[in-house]
Amino acid sequence: MAVSRRQFLGTATALGGAVLLASPGAAHAITGSIPDYEPTRESLDTHPVARWYKDAKFGVFIHWGVYSVPAGSGRHIASEWYLWYQSYRGTDQWKYHRDTYGEDFVYDDFIPRFTAENYDPDSWVRLFEQAGAEYFVLTGKHHDGFALFPSKVTDRHSVAYGPGRDLVGELFAAARKRCTVRPGLYYSLGEFFNPAIGRPMRNFYTDEEIPLVGYKPVEDYIGDYELKQLYEVIDRYDPELLWADGQWFRPTGDPPWRSEEPMAHYYNQAKNRRRPKGVVVNDRFDTHYDFATYEQRTNPQMDPRKWECCITMGYSWGYNKWETDEDYKTSKFLIHLLADVVSKNGNLLLNIGPRPDGTIPGIMQERLRDIGAWLDVNGPAIYGSTPWVRAEEEGAQPGIRYTVTPGAFNVIVLGAPGGTLSLPGDIPISATSRVRLLGRGGTLTWTREDGRIHIAVPSRLPSDFANTFTVDWERRRA
Ligand code: GLC
Repeated sequence: MAVSRRQFLGTATALGGAVLLASPGAAHAITGSIPDYEPTRESLDTHPVARWYKDAKFGVFIHWGVYSVPAGSGRHIASEWYLWYQSYRGTDQWKYHRDTYGEDFVYDDFIPRFTAENYDPDSWVRLFEQAGAEYFVLTGKHHDGFALFPSKVTDRHSVAYGPGRDLVGELFAAARKRCTVRPGLYYSLGEFFNPAIGRPMRNFYTDEEIPLVGYKPVEDYIGDYELKQLYEVIDRYDPELLWADGQWFRPTGDPPWRSEEPMAHYYNQAKNRRRPKGVVVNDRFDTHYDFATYEQRTNPQMDPRKWECCITMGYSWGYNKWETDEDYKTSKFLIHLLADVVSKNGNLLLNIGPRPDGTIPGIMQERLRDIGAWLDVNGPAIYGSTPWVRAEEEGAQPGIRYTVTPGAFNVIVLGAPGGTLSLPGDIPISATSRVRLLGRGGTLTWTREDGRIHIAVPSRLPSDFANTFTVDWERRRA
């Protein structure tokens, strides 16, 4: 890819401000003497947000699992909740399942149809690269409890059943081979149905209790199963990011999740190595977090605390076969969203839902590639940027978003302005500043008049979606 791709393995970026901030002095980071994190909220709260994550700005979320097989019971329905919706007697979803598959066909009967036969992790990673994504987050285990990784505490996973493959391991290996996109893992703490959580699996038409495929009996859902799986994935895959979910499905008696324990282990194993690396966690572990999750919405304010907007392209997270092209957000919408989120100190985690055979629907690929093409040109204003004092100009048409990158002040115009671009006089520009348009050679003429800055906009612009005007930030000799 052209200009914008940044390799992430440089020590400086990997360590970044992250480790240095964690320690009282730089010398500690260099000698590796940061004290270990303790499994307490207080200790974990001293963990800094990894520099790479702050800089990355754009990631791909992947919802893939057994639920991708039925692929939704209707158009505007989250397919990964199929099992839960189906469990409510008399609802449309309950009827849909009965009418389509019959009363004797239970959710776990979908497992053999989750084949992953065309799953090509290398091509997934290449697609994420083309999208300009700097990380991805794969659903290691969603609320249906079916893991995409092998486990000692249960056989309910993709190696023992269904695909017969370690779907997580293969994608992580592909990403690490290419060193371009950082691998992250989603893990649902709670589950819809699990005897150990106090809700056994049932046939929802006869109400008969039925075995959960792969289940190995445990006493304590959290201690004997959930925490052990978290340790398994941390130790086996060494993810750059852990994304928790489903914390509201607590076991009977409402015990605490004790997430501080695996989290301290995760942070310690990331720093206690010859070449420490920065890792991050989201805010659904019910304890400390590095970034806040804004699900299907954005943060209207610039927020000094790092946050992430996760959003679907259509309505569903998992593949939903009922969705039509009109249900998809346009590339223009998604590019505007990315600029908006970044201007307010957020990251965008954009979701795709592969089919059960491992192929990624064309429209999802198209959206990702459109964003990538835009980032090829405008990436210098996105990656590694920080917000300016104002994120946007209210009421501006087309909309305007600001970012700051080393050496430049960036004005991202959400559209294709014509004639003159007029900006408030307080933007950082001095008599010697040069103004350029990303994706086009040469400098643009500009003037300061009536307390405003006026930039002459070329008649042909690089993008119909959004265009970036950058102002040299550094002082130059006249
Ligand atoms: C919610 C949903 C889940 C989805 C997630 C993504 O928590 O339960 O289906 O995975 O959000 O943000």
